[in-house]
Amino acid sequence: MVPVSTLLAGASFVALAALNVVVMLEASRPSCTGKAKSRLIAIHRIGGYLFAILLCIMVWIMSQRLIGVGVSKLPADVLHVAIALVLVPLLGLKILIARRYKHLHSLLMPLGLAIFAATFLLVSLPVLSQALRSASPDGIGSRVALVLAVVLSLFLCGLAVRRREKQQRNGAPDSLGAPPVPVAGTRSTNPQEVTTGPMTLLLAQIEQQTHDTKTFRFLVPRERRFQARPGQFLTFHWVVEGKRVPRSYTISSSPTHSNYVEITSKSVNGGCVSNFLNNQAKLGLTVEASGPHGNFYLDEMVHRRIVLIAAGSGITPMISIIRHIDELRLPIIVTLLYCVRTRKDIIFEAELERLRDSVPNFNFVVSLFQPDDTWRGQRGHLTREFIFEHVNDMDTPTFFLCGPEGFMENARQILISAGVDESRITEESFGESSRPADSSQVVGRAAPTIEFVRSKKICESPNGATLLDVAEANGVQIPYGCRQGQCGTCATRVLCGTVRMDTDAGLSVDQKKAGYVLPCVSRAEGNVVVDG
Ligand code: FES
Repeated sequence: MVPVSTLLAGASFVALAALNVVVMLEASRPSCTGKAKSRLIAIHRIGGYLFAILLCIMVWIMSQRLIGVGVSKLPADVLHVAIALVLVPLLGLKILIARRYKHLHSLLMPLGLAIFAATFLLVSLPVLSQALRSASPDGIGSRVALVLAVVLSLFLCGLAVRRREKQQRNGAPDSLGAPPVPVAGTRSTNPQEVTTGPMTLLLAQIEQQTHDTKTFRFLVPRERRFQARPGQFLTFHWVVEGKRVPRSYTISSSPTHSNYVEITSKSVNGGCVSNFLNNQAKLGLTVEASGPHGNFYLDEMVHRRIVLIAAGSGITPMISIIRHIDELRLPIIVTLLYCVRTRKDIIFEAELERLRDSVPNFNFVVSLFQPDDTWRGQRGHLTREFIFEHVNDMDTPTFFLCGPEGFMENARQILISAGVDESRITEESFGESSRPADSSQVVGRAAPTIEFVRSKKICESPNGATLLDVAEANGVQIPYGCRQGQCGTCATRVLCGTVRMDTDAGLSVDQKKAGYVLPCVSRAEGNVVVDG
């Protein structure tokens, strides 16, 4: 008979190996992100160490049994020892890759499965051999074993059928399948397939990131084939206190997930939407959104080495880019320089640590400009010295900048003075609204008028209002998308008068020549006539 202690040790050995495999599978689910992923990886690490300890104990028990007998007694014993010996290098290799060779992390899953299979064989072989030796064909044990085998087979068939039905219902692989991967550098030419028009999103998850920042996960409708590039944004049309308020938010999740998008919002003093989101938004909230928009994104066909320079909430497009690189295992060299005020303001801290372990060529440095005495890392604002200390190659990378305008201007000046060509600098600003209302307009002076020719309306333009604001307030239809001067959807021709645009990024050269402006970021300087 096999001693009970050996049986227990064997059962825990197999259970631990199975647990490690399940934890690894769960952590690799595309929907598993942030803290949940970090927690699962920590559990997997502890499970791995326990497994190594148990393996040592099992090998010791086995060696005690074989002392004086040798391994030639029975073929089963020889096989048993052989499997135990195979486990040792497999486990050693897995630990080595996990700790030292990040670029081979894709091998961890097959290695884990091989270890689980070997463990199962190692433990079940002597138990099965003992059971067969003592079993009688007509005994109750044989009948119970037969029934159990049939039940297990039926259960596995049922699981397979259910999974297939689910795939057919969804029209896509479930989360254990490979995540849908956008084709790099291409866009569908069929507007029915990929569209940036409005869609209704459902708030399904809220995750606290820092004391004043939360991440919101929205489910994308099944019929919508949603494709974004890492770094792009969506324009949401929130309803706050009965008023429709448009705001753009960068997608912080990886765009490899076409069934959901995440945005990360920091509560801002007086910020209408950010405070609504952080303090009032509840699961089940629906919101209309359009997009994705924006030219600030990673193109894996072009970018081989990138430096991401971010401040505060400017980390959101950067985290999307790094997650994308991680999930598609892209061979891109990434450096992130991230500036924040204090330690408690570091957004995605745990996720960045996880990504440092997971992405082979990723390094990041956080600099605090109001650190406390316990902070041992980088201190101070973004400086030339800081950049040069952590970026050893200034000649080849593309630089992505995102943060408040002053921060980006400073970063840009440093890069240009260091000889970085403008074509290798790409920028994204953020904030609750586009530029603030123009305070230079004199209060008391007669407000300029805007004539919308095709709508046959002449409207007053209040101080600071954009052409789009005025059009909406007066029932004039101008299509729009980002409301940040990026997507070009609102482009409209000015027939007479002058407007001041915050940015013309969304206009082509031909449109500029033809007198088009972007009403979402344009304000009238005197009376104007537009073709709206
Ligand atoms: S709405 Fe996108 S540029 Fe105006």
